[in-house]
Amino acid sequence: MIRTIIFAVALTLVLAACGEQTPGYPARQAPAGVLTDAAQIAAGRTLFHDKCATCHGHPDEGRSPRADFFQPPASDFSSPAYRTADPAYLFWRIEVGKTVEPYLSRGSVMPSWRGLSDEEIWQLVAYLRARAG
Ligand code: HEC
Repeated sequence: MIRTIIFAVALTLVLAACGEQTPGYPARQAPAGVLTDAAQIAAGRTLFHDKCATCHGHPDEGRSPRADFFQPPASDFSSPAYRTADPAYLFWRIEVGKTVEPYLSRGSVMPSWRGLSDEEIWQLVAYLRARAG
């Protein structure tokens, strides 16, 4: 009996931890070709340079030392993990930034980019995936 309770508590804790790592986000399909099209990736690069590089690092810098100034730090998009990151997740994070949990209560400084068009956000997603090491 005790073992069953301990197991149930452990399972609940593990599930809670997992849930926090992968919050729900809406399924979205990138328009055909956008993620691999050179012109879209180049447009994403320009947007990234203008709006994101101050925190996430200039493309030619790899990663800016400023990234660690934030707590939590600005994500390192030169990491190979972003090559295969779910485009729908990246789209959602760019759209909502720090305005949703758990990022809000962690003290994230990631702005919400709702002001950008869907096309621009997909261009950024394409660039982040192409940029990854
Ligand atoms: C003011 C600094 C700042 C700016 C500007 C900024 N970000 Fe962020 N961003 C952060 C921080 C800090 C995090 C890590 C905390 C978090 O996940 O909210 C982050 C997280 C992210 C994530 C989630 C990464 C992951 O692995 O979960 C994405 C995607 C992202 N940023 C994309 C962008 C894009 C695209 C732009 C430009 C349009 C941008 N950011 C501009 C600070 C910034």
